[in-house]
Amino acid sequence: MNTQRIGILGMGSMGRALASTLLEAGHAVTVWNRTPGKAGDVLALGAHEASSPEEAIEASDLTIACLLDAASVRETLTPAMPTLTGRTLVNLTSGSPRQARDLAGWLGKHEVRFLTGGVLAVPPAIGTDEAVILYSGPRDLFGRVAPTLAPLARPHWVGGDPGFAALYDMAALSGMYGMIAGVVHAMTLVQADGGDVEAFQREVLQPWMEQMLPLMFAESDPDESNAGMQATALEIMLGASADAGVPAELAGHLRAALWEMRRAAA
Ligand SMILES: NC(=O)c1ccc[n+]([C@@H]2O[C@H](COP(=O)([O-])OP(=O)(O)OC[C@H]3O[C@@H](n4cnc5c(N)ncnc54)[C@H](OP(=O)(O)O)[C@@H]3O)[C@@H](O)[C@H]2O)c1
Repeated sequence: MNTQRIGILGMGSMGRALASTLLEAGHAVTVWNRTPGKAGDVLALGAHEASSPEEAIEASDLTIACLLDAASVRETLTPAMPTLTGRTLVNLTSGSPRQARDLAGWLGKHEVRFLTGGVLAVPPAIGTDEAVILYSGPRDLFGRVAPTLAPLARPHWVGGDPGFAALYDMAALSGMYGMIAGVVHAMTLVQADGGDVEAFQREVLQPWMEQMLPLMFAESDPDESNAGMQATALEIMLGASADAGVPAELAGHLRAALWEMRRAAA
């Protein structure tokens, strides 16, 4: 393997998972965290701790930022910009597409080679087959850094627009939070109307959702679950929620789409 020198800015849960996986893959890793003393296990695995972002960047061929949000990335990189100029940065901090494009524009002016990343994994999944990291930005740069980053998660390039990795990441999060909101609403409804939440979750909700998930992406047969029936069922469910005093804004959001499908099918 071609050993690379990698700097990681941010030793939160995700930064530590990235660092330990890259160390286990044989890379030389230098880490920095705003609050010192948080690198813990990562140092025991052989990472070097830098006392400033500049020191971590200077010690590395490739720098990864994994901080809380776009503001913390700006705050960290601004004083380090003279050191970062002419080098490569991969930002694995979650952000919006607009923030990713703004960051790319700013870094471009300082001649920083830059990829946006979107981590579709929780820290324990980093380094496993389930993990995926979305990247966007220059394809040739992705081609050069992907072999180094591959031990973290399957690298998946989604386009030259630096906003696309953030766009797909946020859209995937929307799918996840939609599922969480549906589950929370379902359990709240059962509890509010006197049901056994624990048994409902185990015996009804989880098997039902597992049955539904593959169907969500399958071609649907309009004769099996037609739009008129679905629009009516949604109204009944919203009514049951109202009777139990449980807000159902999330599913209510589907109302217009289902009635439109019903109208189109009529
Ligand atoms: N954990 C997950 O499940 C997961 C999954 C996918 C993506 N992500 C993304 O990965 C990124 C990091 O998540 P995490 O789980 O590692 O979060 P975390 O454990 O809360 O760590 C946050 C990190 O950001 C640093 N930070 C916060 N504000 C800062 C500032 N103003 N300047 C410099 N550093 C600052 C913190 O440093 P201090 O120690 O000094 O506070 C810490 O290193 C986030 O963008 C998150 O959305 C996380």
